[in-house]
Amino acid sequence: MAILPTIIANNAHQNFPKIADDNDKVPTLSIIDILSSNESYSTLLNVLQRNDLIDYVNELENVTFLAPINEAFDNYPDLPSKITQDQLDRFIIDEPVFREDIDGIKLLSTLNRFGSPYIKNFEIPLLLDHRTLKNGDEVYCVENANVISDDVYLPTIDTVVLTVDAILLDLKEYVCQYFQNSLNRNTGDERFKIFSSLLMSQNTCKSTRISNATFLIPSDDSLDLNFIERKYLLNVRGLEDKNLFLSNFLVDGIIGGNLHNNSITSHNWNKEKIRISSSYEGDEIIINNSCHAASSNFLLSDGIIHYFDEPIYDYRGENFPQFTPRKYLLGLEYEQFVDEVDFRRLSHLIDDSSIHQTIFVSKDYKLFGTLQNQLLYHFIEGDDVLDVENGGKKLLNSKFCLSSKFCQKVKFEKSLDGETVLLNSDTKVVNKVPYKVGNASIYILNDDISLPSKLQTEIASQLTGFGRSIEFFKRFNLLKSLSKNDEVYTIFFPSSELWSLLDLTLDYLISNEKILEKFVHNLVIKGLIYHDYEGSNEFETLLGETVTIEKVNNSLIIDDSTVEDVSFAEEILYSNGVVHPITENLPIPRGLEITNHDLFKNLDSLEFEKIINVLNLTSIFNSSLGYSILLPSSNSLIQENITSLLTDIKYLEKFAKLHILPPGSLDMILDCYSSSASLNDNSAIDYNSTTLIPTLMNDTYLTCRQLASGNLMLSITEGSGNEVRILRHGLALTNLDFNSGILLLDRPLNPNWLNSRSSKLYLHLPLIAILLGILIGIICVILGFGCCLILTLGNSNLKGSNDPIENDEERIEHVISVSERMPLLNDDEENQLANSNGPLTVSGGTERSKIGCCNHHLNHNSNKNYNSFDTKYSINASASPIDVNYE
Ligand SMILES: *[C@@H]1O[C@H](CO)[C@@H](O)[C@H](O)[C@H]1NC(C)=O
Ligand SMILES: *[C@@H]1O[C@H](CO)[C@@H](O)[C@H](O)[C@H]1NC(C)=O
Ligand SMILES: *[C@@H]1O[C@H](CO)[C@@H](O)[C@H](O)[C@H]1NC(C)=O
Ligand SMILES: *[C@@H]1O[C@H](CO)[C@@H](O)[C@H](O)[C@H]1NC(C)=O
Ligand SMILES: *[C@@H]1O[C@H](CO)[C@@H](O)[C@H](O)[C@H]1NC(C)=O
Ligand SMILES: *[C@@H]1O[C@H](CO)[C@@H](O)[C@H](O)[C@H]1NC(C)=O
Ligand SMILES: *[C@@H]1O[C@H](CO)[C@@H](O)[C@H](O)[C@H]1NC(C)=O
Ligand SMILES: *[C@@H]1O[C@H](CO)[C@@H](O)[C@H](O)[C@H]1NC(C)=O
Ligand SMILES: *[C@@H]1O[C@H](CO)[C@@H](O)[C@H](O)[C@H]1NC(C)=O
Repeated sequence: MAILPTIIANNAHQNFPKIADDNDKVPTLSIIDILSSNESYSTLLNVLQRNDLIDYVNELENVTFLAPINEAFDNYPDLPSKITQDQLDRFIIDEPVFREDIDGIKLLSTLNRFGSPYIKNFEIPLLLDHRTLKNGDEVYCVENANVISDDVYLPTIDTVVLTVDAILLDLKEYVCQYFQNSLNRNTGDERFKIFSSLLMSQNTCKSTRISNATFLIPSDDSLDLNFIERKYLLNVRGLEDKNLFLSNFLVDGIIGGNLHNNSITSHNWNKEKIRISSSYEGDEIIINNSCHAASSNFLLSDGIIHYFDEPIYDYRGENFPQFTPRKYLLGLEYEQFVDEVDFRRLSHLIDDSSIHQTIFVSKDYKLFGTLQNQLLYHFIEGDDVLDVENGGKKLLNSKFCLSSKFCQKVKFEKSLDGETVLLNSDTKVVNKVPYKVGNASIYILNDDISLPSKLQTEIASQLTGFGRSIEFFKRFNLLKSLSKNDEVYTIFFPSSELWSLLDLTLDYLISNEKILEKFVHNLVIKGLIYHDYEGSNEFETLLGETVTIEKVNNSLIIDDSTVEDVSFAEEILYSNGVVHPITENLPIPRGLEITNHDLFKNLDSLEFEKIINVLNLTSIFNSSLGYSILLPSSNSLIQENITSLLTDIKYLEKFAKLHILPPGSLDMILDCYSSSASLNDNSAIDYNSTTLIPTLMNDTYLTCRQLASGNLMLSITEGSGNEVRILRHGLALTNLDFNSGILLLDRPLNPNWLNSRSSKLYLHLPLIAILLGILIGIICVILGFGCCLILTLGNSNLKGSNDPIENDEERIEHVISVSERMPLLNDDEENQLANSNGPLTVSGGTERSKIGCCNHHLNHNSNKNYNSFDTKYSINASASPIDVNYE
């Protein structure tokens, strides 16, 4: 085959293309002629032939034709047999290109004019790269193919033919196609799924008909958008912000390749001026002279991508969305909450990110149809108020304010390990770290928090065992009235048990409405006293009385007297304030007096009162003296034949004194309940108190015993084992104090029981004392014998005397010195009875009676002798198990 007279342009370009223009003798040669002249193109020719494209190629003018050699086809055994003209056009550059004109990367357009789905005649671009390396080697590529020939120039048709070693079959995708697909494929090191997803969401790419554009794509990492912000931008309500966002990264036209020393000044879609320049002969695109693309010049069929690892702009700047609580809430998908806020005309709260606040949003919408108040309760003053140490507890101020003085609180507590954060004791906070936007913090709740409701509802839902108080508050219409208006209250709410402890007193209160009302109104204080109250201030009760309330440790001290423990855990928030459930001390209205006599009137006490009257003992009803009364019912008195009609005044007096307790005794009996409770939590066993409870009768005491059932039994310490049961009790009230009262007995304590000695006393005698007694007895006997012997020897006249006490001074003195250590030995019963005649006084008086000794010897263990023991001594004997020194 003849050598084709083509003009070869080699590296000596200086005389080119002039040669082509000047040489008129050059015959007309077509591209096909060139291809036919070399076996290397036979496959290409074959393909063209099969697809009827020979004529088309033959007629091409003013182009650069890329001719793959045969080997290039080997890599593509699956090459479609059908190649259309359009496909071929993708690889025919629409102008003759000489390598001398290319330094670095150059973007050229092809004959394919269907590059854009939106713009007519958009020519698909093609990238050429020609450069001379430092070592002098020349590199010339067309996208993925190397140019392996010199430029073959056909002057008559002004066309260049380049031989390439690969087929350029890579289909360039449309912009929108490309980004759509990029979401589903790994784009290597270049991650820009956020950008892609934003571009694709809401059909933005297609609806905006993005085409003929340069994309300055920010990497996912450089974007600094958290997932909430991303979700917001993807949300339909964030469309405007998204478009604002995307526009920063879009520039009209296809800009890339070697821009030489001239930077191009253009605008992004936000009309912001940007300078685009390049370095490394176009390998790298630079924005605003500072931001270097990590990867440049990726061609699409109607666009070009430059990818940036580093932020191109200040992504929080004015051309970027400014995030507000509203946008965050939308990003968190709480659209309904946002709607509700708008509907309740509270939009300003979520549109201003400068407000220092904390917002609670529920995962579980209960907000539909809620009132503005309820919604405001989700907004808390102060940014990130939940940022407290583990175990922290506090009341938060919500933005729902009843008045200028009172904004409803939210209870907040963090567990010790910091894992659980609770609001209002039951609502969990889902995110331990808040979503922060501006000065606002957003917390998500697993359930909704609702505004504390009216008193009645809160108490009913949160308190069990407070039925009595509920009943009383209801009776005086307080449940409703305390939830009305703007007034705020602190309510001390006693448990039913606390009321029950009043027992007979409560009966009295209930039957005296006026006094009960006073009592109940006294429990309500105007103003707010939460658990975190500090200092000492004056308040007014609902009664209109002034009370001073002081905080000491964790307790509130009302008027220096009543101590109420209040705590975060216990206090109950309600619509108009706070309720403190109380179980310990009942606050008592000042100036309220309830006497024993008041309590009496409510009871079956006629017979007893008659007896008291007969005995002229009515002064015991004077509360200020502090006497308490053991009251057997009239019925039981009549049954036991103890009535005022009895003629035996002495008996009656004994009876009465047994039933009257001096000040202090009542407490001892009541202690019996509490000490047995502390002894054993289950109170399963009987508890026998060792306390001796004085009565008005000198030297006569009562012992109490609590049964496992909880009932309290009383018996006369110095009596037989007969016991009476305390049925109920009531306390009289004087000067804010319950110091005396009435104990209702099932039957009277019978003075007759006093006479018969129970075997109890034996039990109370310690073994040592008995042994000591025996020992002393023996000594006495020996001494007596000795004395008698001496006396007998000296004076045998006295031998027959039956009574050794009389006139025998020496012996008596001796015996006394012994009996001082042995106080069990004492005088006879007469002595004891004589001692117990005093009126209305009690004493643990221990005046020693005269002691005889030797007359007791040998009789020591007889019952008769023990009858004469004065139990006072047994009390005072330090060796006695009844080791109570009651003086
Ligand atoms: C045919 O083309 C190949 C590749 O360009 C080249 O190496 C070879 O020298 C050419 N043959 C002729 C006869 O021109
Ligand atoms: C090629 O260029 C010449 C001169 O610029 C012009 O006359 C001719 O029409 C062009 N041919 C085609 C097919 O565009
Ligand atoms: C592509 O955009 C550039 C820059 O705006 C413009 O000059 C050119 O005409 C556009 N191309 C087409 C085919 O519309
Ligand atoms: C570009 O600038 C460099 C140095 O600044 C200079 O050497 C080179 O000639 C310039 N190239 C063009 C095309 O202006
Ligand atoms: C947050 O509050 C401070 C001080 O009140 C204010 O200067 C700042 O602008 C606020 N931040 C935002 C994002 O509004
Ligand atoms: C009680 O007082 C009245 C009159 O003062 C008197 O007659 C009566 O004997 C007194 N009764 C007793 C038991 O002291
Ligand atoms: C009380 O007196 C009546 C009649 O005198 C007698 O039948 C009854 O047994 C007495 N009751 C007691 C407990 O002594
Ligand atoms: C209490 O006393 C009763 C009778 O005196 C006796 O049966 C009981 O065992 C005692 N209980 C205790 C716990 O001492
Ligand atoms: C009771 O004891 C006290 C003090 O020891 C005494 O003053 C009073 O007189 C006594 N009462 C009787 C009735 O003995």
